Amino acid sequence: MKIYAIATGAALALAVVVTPASSAAVKEGAACKKAGQVSTVAGRKLTCIKKSGKLVWNKGVAVKVAPVVSATPSASAVAPVAAGYTMEKVKANGTSSSCWSVISGNVYDLTRWINSHPGGSGAIVSLCGTDGTSGFMAMHRNQSKPESRLAGYLLGPLNK
Ligand code: HEM
Repeated sequence: MKIYAIATGAALALAVVVTPASSAAVKEGAACKKAGQVSTVAGRKLTCIKKSGKLVWNKGVAVKVAPVVSATPSASAVAPVAAGYTMEKVKANGTSSSCWSVISGNVYDLTRWINSHPGGSGAIVSLCGTDGTSGFMAMHRNQSKPESRLAGYLLGPLNK
């Protein structure tokens, strides 16, 4: 009987020693070891204080999490300013398989219009890769249908 009591006591003592060390939860009112000790848990900074003769964690104060400052973009990471639609690019699209043309300062991709033009494909192909303003105006000035057709093929303003 005595042996049993000692064994039980030893086991309990062991449990008491082992368990709190590994799972001592830092939360308000939970026991702590040293007054003044601080611990930050779930955004709160708790301090170990003496309360009614016991060392316990206080309520703590909310701590502001410092915003993660993203690295300043380096010069090389900044995308180069888009040159836009230059005459150089228009010239590079000067065939019937990729037909860009400038009409009144805007760049149009007329590729899909070549084979649909009522005035024939040749009239459009001749404009590919060029400033086609005069050609278009000579034929279609003040005509609403050609103009509204054209609007559907707009890429953007010519960047001179
Ligand atoms: C640049 C883009 C052009 C567009 C978007 C365009 C658009 C059109 C459209 C929508 C029509 C039909 C008009 C209607 O039914 O009232 C048309 C007809 C015509 N286009 Fe164009 N056009 C373009 C360029 C040209 C050029 C450069 C020429 C001549 C050099 C030309 C010659 C003609 C002719 C002759 C017709 C009349 C065809 C017919 O009635 O049988 N077009 N065009």
